[in-house]
Parts: sequence; structure tokens; C-alpha cells
Amino acid sequence: MNHFDYVNGELCAEDVPLSRIAAELGTPFYCYSTATLVRHYTVFRQALEKAGLDATICFALKANPNIAVVRTLAGLGAGADVVSEGELRRALAAGVPAGRIVFSGVGKTRRELELAVAKGIMQVNVESEPELRALSEVAAARGVRMPISLRVNPDVDAGTHAKITTGKKENKFGIEWTRAHEVYRIARELPGVEVVGIACHIGSQLTDVEPFRQAFSRVRDLVAILRADGFDIRRLDLGGGLGVPYDAATDLPPHPDDYAAAIAGSLGDLGCRIVLEPGRLLVGNAGVLVSRVVYVKEGATRSFAIVDAAMNDLMRPALYDAHHDIQPVAEPAAGAPRAEIDVVGPVCETGDTFARQRPLPPLAAGDLVAFRTAGAYGAAMSSTYNSRLLVPEVLVNGHGFAVVRARPTYEDMLALEALPDWLE
Ligand code: LLP
Repeated sequence: MNHFDYVNGELCAEDVPLSRIAAELGTPFYCYSTATLVRHYTVFRQALEKAGLDATICFALKANPNIAVVRTLAGLGAGADVVSEGELRRALAAGVPAGRIVFSGVGKTRRELELAVAKGIMQVNVESEPELRALSEVAAARGVRMPISLRVNPDVDAGTHAKITTGKKENKFGIEWTRAHEVYRIARELPGVEVVGIACHIGSQLTDVEPFRQAFSRVRDLVAILRADGFDIRRLDLGGGLGVPYDAATDLPPHPDDYAAAIAGSLGDLGCRIVLEPGRLLVGNAGVLVSRVVYVKEGATRSFAIVDAAMNDLMRPALYDAHHDIQPVAEPAAGAPRAEIDVVGPVCETGDTFARQRPLPPLAAGDLVAFRTAGAYGAAMSSTYNSRLLVPEVLVNGHGFAVVRARPTYEDMLALEALPDWLE
């Protein structure tokens, strides 16, 4: 459920018509709904509670790192899953307590590990033996033992898009399942780390609980092996990955209740604190990208609606052939005819296509359209390709809204560049 609905013929974010924001701010812009963020977090937390799980929800900042979004979730009790110094700094700036931050990622630098140690975060999820040794050195130099989980790669097929599956043995992530025990033993001998648990994340946009179950069962086996060897395994970080319905007609991801029941069924009796790293699930449906139709062009074989947003603003269709529902902001008349149209951006690549042959009500130049389910991996993945400015982000709360990331100026765009003296 989300809070983007037609009210009096206008698509609104909660009580704010998107056209009002467009009039004030120009287009394109991202718009997030506080009520939807709150709802998604609450549904997820309640699912875990109902399943009797002692869980910490660490929002995966990569899905939407805007500090206002992170603060909204932190205010509800969320921690953070971060994968870079930038995300760690954002989580702290948004008010996430260090004790609720986990640091994931396959290539953390020493500088990043130093910051994690200095800030005293909850744990580092270590993905390789060299990283383990580097972290131990960094922490020992400060006289601390850093709590760690090893991220294991359970060699499970998540059944999702190849570019976002992470838990197969040929993927770069984690420590091979079969070598995990050996690396835990190395960790035990190192002065700067303290093993507290196991971490695992098998992929993103999963629409079936079965791959999760397979991974959980491997985690369970590993808990038994490690405990038998004297390790005090007390936290299980199960990553993120639960999918959202991008296309209401075809996507049927499991309800958080089913996901929580799968966790409880596989791991609930082990006496471990469960850590989860949902990203998309919390923010995906809480955001839209609003854009204006610049031209409608009749091509030789099809029509194109050329909008002012492009692949640099929302990369998912170009990168993953992802589907995003597209809705006119002005509600189409009941029974309005639909015709197939390609919705494209102005960037000079054919890949800059949001939808091919999408049946949509008639669109005309000047119309506003909303790309739905754009709250996750939308603004987060945007770039300035074609020297287009990053688009602003707006957070709605009831009747009000605030710009939570301003549109930069062209002066900002040029500010970090310089001509070397031989070109002046
Ligand atoms: N934890 C780890 C270690 C991850 O690598 C990820 C996502 C998450 C948690 C959060 O996963 P989520 O709950 O959002 O599925 N750009 C792609 C998605 C990449 C996901 C990368 N890792 C997309 O737009 O679909």
C-alpha cells in the first residue's frame, strides 16, 4: 500500500497534488511520501514481531540515501546498512545511532574500516580473508576488537535479475560457503576482531521465499558447525532482498509476514538476534519520479512521448529492463482510450527508454507523468550524464512538503572542474 492516489482528478502524494510541487519546483523531481515510509517500516516490523523474532532492521541506505528519508526511518527505530564512507557519514548525519549501523560491501578500504572502528558501529560484515586481516590490524592499532560477522556466500540461486543476484558461488560476494569455517578459525586468532555472527545476502527483488529458505537453512547448518567449535554465534544478519510489486499485474512478491515466518521457521529457535537489511521494501513504493512530456512524436511505426526525465535520472529501465508503472498526473477520464506508446527521455541513446509499447491514455506536450515505485534505486543511482543536473527530491508529509535535496545550478555543475594552466 502507498499514499499516491488520485484525489479530485489529480495524482497526489498524501494530501499534496504533484502538480503543485511541479509548479513550484519545475520538473523532473523525485517525491517521497512520509506516510508510506512509516507504513512500510511498520508493516515490516510488525511482521517480525508477530513471528516472535528479536530483530534489528538496518535500512540499506543504497536504496535511498537522502538524509531526510533516513531520518524518517531512524525516527521509527531503524538502524542502517552502509557500504561506503559516504553512506556511513549519511547515516550518522541522519541521526542513526552508531550502535545500529552495520557495514557491508566487498571492497571496504582501510580508511573506511578506520572510520567504522572510530565510530564504534554495531558490526562489520567481512567479505574476504584479506579484508578480515586489514580490519583486525586497523582495530588492533586502536586497541579495540571490532564485532564482526563473516558474509558467507551460500551458493543459492535467488531467481532474480542476473545483475542483482549475489548469492551464487560465481558472484563476487562473501566467503565461499565451504571455506567459511576455515576463515572463522582465522578470525578467532586475530587480535582486532570479535566474531559475533554470520551474515548473508543472496540478491535483490526476490519474489519468492524459497531461495531465502535455502539460504537460511545453510546459515543454520553453519551456526551448528561454529557453535560446536566453540564460537559464540549470537547475531544473524540475513541481508535484504525482499521484492516489491513494480507491475501490479504480474509481480506478486511474498508478504513480509511470509518472509518473517520463513526466518522464524528456519532460525527462530537459535537464540540469535536477527539483523535485516531491507532497502527496496521500505522505500520503493514510497517514491515517484515526476516528469513533463516535452513532445509527442509520431514515428514511422510507433509514437513516442519524449519526457524531460531521462536514463540518468532513473537508470533502472536502461540497466535492468525494469518496469515502472507510468501514470498521467491528471486523472484520465473513465474509459479513456489507451494506445501503445514508447516513453523515452532526451538522452542520446536508444537505451534511454522508460517503456516500450506501453498502453497509456493519450498524452500531450506539457502533461505531467509519474513513474511509480521509484523510491528505491532511483535518485540513488542517478548521474549527470549528458550534463543534465541531478533532479531535486521532495518529501511530503500530510499537507506539506519540503525540498530535501535542491536542484543544483549550472554553476554548481561546473564548480569542481578547472582548466589546467596550459589551456588557460
Ligand atoms: N544488503 C546488501 C548486502 C545488499 O547488497 C543489498 C542490495 C541490500 C542489503 C538491500 O537489498 P534490497 O532489500 O533493496 O533488495 N540497483 C538494483 C538493486 C541493487 C541491490 C544491491 N544490493 C536495482 O535497482 O534493482
